[in-house]
Amino acid sequence: MSDSIQAVRGMRDVSPEEAPRWARLERIARRVLDAYGYREVRLPLVEKTELFRRSIGEVTDIVEKEMYTFEDRNGESLTLRPEGTAGCVRAGLQHGWFQQPGRRLWYLGPMFRHERPQQGRYRQFHQIGVEAYGMPGPDIDAEIVVLTARLWRELGIDDVRLEINTLGDAADRAAYRARLVDYFEAHRGDLDEDSRRRLYTNPLRILDSKNPDLQALIAGAPQLGAHVGAGCREHFEGFKAALQDLGVGFVVNPRLVRGLDYYNRTVFEWVTDRLGAQGTVCAGGRYDGLVEQLGGRSTPAVGFAMGLERLLALLGESWGAGSGEADVYVVAVGAAAERAAARLAERLRDALPGVRVLAHCGGGSFKSQFKRADRSGARFALVLGEEEVRGGRVAVKPLRGAQKQETVADAEVAAYLARALRGGPEG
Ligand code: HAM
Repeated sequence: MSDSIQAVRGMRDVSPEEAPRWARLERIARRVLDAYGYREVRLPLVEKTELFRRSIGEVTDIVEKEMYTFEDRNGESLTLRPEGTAGCVRAGLQHGWFQQPGRRLWYLGPMFRHERPQQGRYRQFHQIGVEAYGMPGPDIDAEIVVLTARLWRELGIDDVRLEINTLGDAADRAAYRARLVDYFEAHRGDLDEDSRRRLYTNPLRILDSKNPDLQALIAGAPQLGAHVGAGCREHFEGFKAALQDLGVGFVVNPRLVRGLDYYNRTVFEWVTDRLGAQGTVCAGGRYDGLVEQLGGRSTPAVGFAMGLERLLALLGESWGAGSGEADVYVVAVGAAAERAAARLAERLRDALPGVRVLAHCGGGSFKSQFKRADRSGARFALVLGEEEVRGGRVAVKPLRGAQKQETVADAEVAAYLARALRGGPEG
């Protein structure tokens, strides 16, 4: 095993046992998104590097040190998408999606960031992202948040809290930025290397630092809220009022700044204390300047993305676990019985949609086949030997519960199973 090839660090395989949980999560999310009129888009995993530089921002962790960037065979710099918003705006501009006002879109898929892997943080991870375009008011900000709150309810998640903040508009941020630079300059000696480097390029990001030595300094820094203009304050008040109206609880966290540069006004995060340091399961905000910044007409926009690995960790291992491989397992010994079993399995699949019929392949004794049938999780084994084939009959053997084995005419098996499977997990 030692020289066998392993998965790339930070990139996980989803086993056949785990996959049903993913499918269930995706199914529920799809249903909720449908209920709000959001439409799915499917976007490339690879984009031009320039797109991420110009949207996420040059002086962000993602662009500075986390992107999987490579030159393709034509010497063009390409990057595995670290997030979905930039690509969604790029696609919308390219295809004119934003010409229709009130566009509501969503996507699902893997994202790639070269972060230090740990529980809840991977180099390939999966997001469901939601983006709404062309709507300037706080009503849509509230809608996307209430949508997530509904999703948590449908998933049975109740230990996440909503933190919100407003970042103001570009002019507010410029004024605030100047104040911050003054403040941190006065304490330059206390800054760490990362923060000193960011002092003039992206001082807001210093507020996001996790360095414990900086926390006191950060706590004393001027707050953004004081610099937010009247229009933004009104937007934020409208957002809060709409959340209250819709019964969504929140806390205002004036330190919430987000790690990507495109945000303005509303930002929010859904956070849990149950996943250690990687407690943010869903995050987003408004990005009214990005469409224009990428060459389009000024278009208000707001969205979020949730991390599916983190949501599944929060849901726990028992949530959505599949119920084995099969409902019915067909056992057959002897060449004629094997052929009859394959035909029977096909007929059952025609007659019983949604019932999983597993036909044993590869021969073996009755004993070994029953062992496999039992492990498959099936509730019934159908047994075909030479005698059954000659008599046009099938033995139906319950594998769970206390029912007795019965012999059923070949033509009656589908109807018999339909009745028996309806009768609860123990038959
Ligand atoms: P983000 O905060 O970078 O925002 O990521 C959103 C979510 O993706 C996080 O809250 C987390 O649940 C998950 N996530 C991020 N990095 C990792 C990782 N390395 N491993 C596992 N999960 C991770 C965005 O990506 C924005 N595009 C969201 C957005 C959409 N804003 C507006 N529209």
